[in-house]
Amino acid sequence: MCGIFGYVGEKKAVPIVIDGLKILEYRGYDSAGIAGVESGKTLFYKDIGKVDSLAKMIARKQLKINTAIAHTRWATHGGVDTKNAHPHFDMKQSVAIVHNGIIENHLKLKAHLERENIEFLSETDSEIIAQLIGHYYNGDLLKALLKSLLKLDGAFAIAGVHQNHPDQIFIAAKGSPLAIGIGDNEYFLSSDVNGFLKHTNKVIFLKDGEAGILHKEGFEIYDCKGKRAVKQIEQIKSNNYEISKLNFEHFTLKEIHDQPESISRLFVSRFEEEFGSVCLKDMGIDESELLETSRILILACGTSWHAGFIGSYLFESLSRTPTQVEISSEFRYKNPIVLKDTLVIAISQSGETADTIAAVHELKAKGAKVIAICNREESTLSRITDHTLLIKAGPEIGVCSTKAFTNQVVLLSLLALHLGRMHHQSKEEAVYFIREIKKLPQLVVEILKQSKHIETLAKKYNHFNNFFYLGRSYMYPASLEAALKLKEISYINAQAYPAGELKHGPIALIDKDCPTIALCSNQHTYTKLLSNLMEVKARNGPIIAFAPRNSAGIESIADDVFWLPEVCDEFASIPISVSLQLFAYYMAKFRGCDIDQPRNLAKSVTVE
Ligand code: M6R
Repeated sequence: MCGIFGYVGEKKAVPIVIDGLKILEYRGYDSAGIAGVESGKTLFYKDIGKVDSLAKMIARKQLKINTAIAHTRWATHGGVDTKNAHPHFDMKQSVAIVHNGIIENHLKLKAHLERENIEFLSETDSEIIAQLIGHYYNGDLLKALLKSLLKLDGAFAIAGVHQNHPDQIFIAAKGSPLAIGIGDNEYFLSSDVNGFLKHTNKVIFLKDGEAGILHKEGFEIYDCKGKRAVKQIEQIKSNNYEISKLNFEHFTLKEIHDQPESISRLFVSRFEEEFGSVCLKDMGIDESELLETSRILILACGTSWHAGFIGSYLFESLSRTPTQVEISSEFRYKNPIVLKDTLVIAISQSGETADTIAAVHELKAKGAKVIAICNREESTLSRITDHTLLIKAGPEIGVCSTKAFTNQVVLLSLLALHLGRMHHQSKEEAVYFIREIKKLPQLVVEILKQSKHIETLAKKYNHFNNFFYLGRSYMYPASLEAALKLKEISYINAQAYPAGELKHGPIALIDKDCPTIALCSNQHTYTKLLSNLMEVKARNGPIIAFAPRNSAGIESIADDVFWLPEVCDEFASIPISVSLQLFAYYMAKFRGCDIDQPRNLAKSVTVE
């Protein structure tokens, strides 16, 4: 994970790289650091904590450097302390590097260098990069860089400076993203183009195995054999989304409240109700490819996997297409079987999740067609897949995914409806579902209006340390997602189960100190769920039900009920998820947690 940023040009580099780092903080915020070259010597500052701590530390120093590299860390190898914070150095401190990724063979390389009396200062895998470059350097920086890269196994995006080359930054990438921004006599590097979009929208992306040098007059990029690469400059469209919390206390709360609007954005010019059709033309979908689709494979991680899981129910129910949903980190090592007529859908909010990207590479190598469902047009995932469907949720800053999840589910619903209509669905059926799905923004508004009630529930239950989340059918993946929200931002243990599975073991944990959140929005399995809840009640487990208004009998079983607006089973995961996002939010707030940037997490998981 981690974010790297750099600047070379004529301006003061420090404010530019600090600003860039703040934009990249979603990639990790355990520690931050900066390096440059002044009077023929490398200089650096690093500190544990967020970028703001580093900014405060260096504010007093009045650094005048015009070239700098910087890093915001999510710890992989080595604890969160200053010695493991980036930048890292060679033994003579002539080279400083920042790194995103994992060097898998660092222990072997380290043992080799230690035999040559080279001393290491950190516990990180990254330090080996600086030590190798320092070791091989004999006046030719590029040569030392390329020679070092040949030794490294794993994924990396690297930027570095050398004391003998004060106005240059060396760069390299393999398996981790690195974008170069091209300004007027100035160059930027960043793990993500958003880091420098306010300065320039002219971009080149480093391909796997490429390395090079940036200086204020230009850049040189080489392939791994040292052959000069011809790079295409791309113009990135700037989006008009404003990044602000408005009057909300947290980005997470603001993003929960964004949902009526973000869902509506996906609906613009989408429905031809009189024909029962969902129009996806503007998304550039290849209709003939869809017609030939007889099987779907969905790949994703975390919340996106939960959205995909709901998607698998939708595709099977609405379009009768057999659908397999897989966690990318497991799937990538399976030696997958790719059948003809399979549509692969890779879902990722960021489009930078390392495991999903690796799984897609594996499938593409086997000849599969892959479409991405993504929130970021310029992401790595969008660039390596055949086609991208954008969820248009707008920037999601809170680490905990909220509006991206609901828009992923809504987009999957639209795709399932479209596919269903192409395959077998009657016009009448299609019209019914279109009417139901169109209700969603208004239903979410109704939930948001009841925030106070959810806050009251959180006040009552926030002292409990263990929760079960139970649901059936669509409500099972929805319960996985709701439990993840609670774990992630309030640090409370929450286990989600298909309600019918409880009696096969987990029920042993039920007692008066372990409340159950019951997700009751699946009408088809409602009475079955009630029986499971009776089993919980018989063991003194408190029950908080999130149930549609027409749910008969739930009041006599549950200790508390939050009433939801009614909608068909297929789309019921949306309103209930919003209500449980709010529940997790208020639980975390009562427990005084860092809601937008929870401990140990990062928004974008760029290591496997
Ligand atoms: O960017 P992605 O959608 O690929 O991210 C996948 C997960 O890391 C992400 O959904 C994570 O689980 C969220 N922080 C959960 O809120």
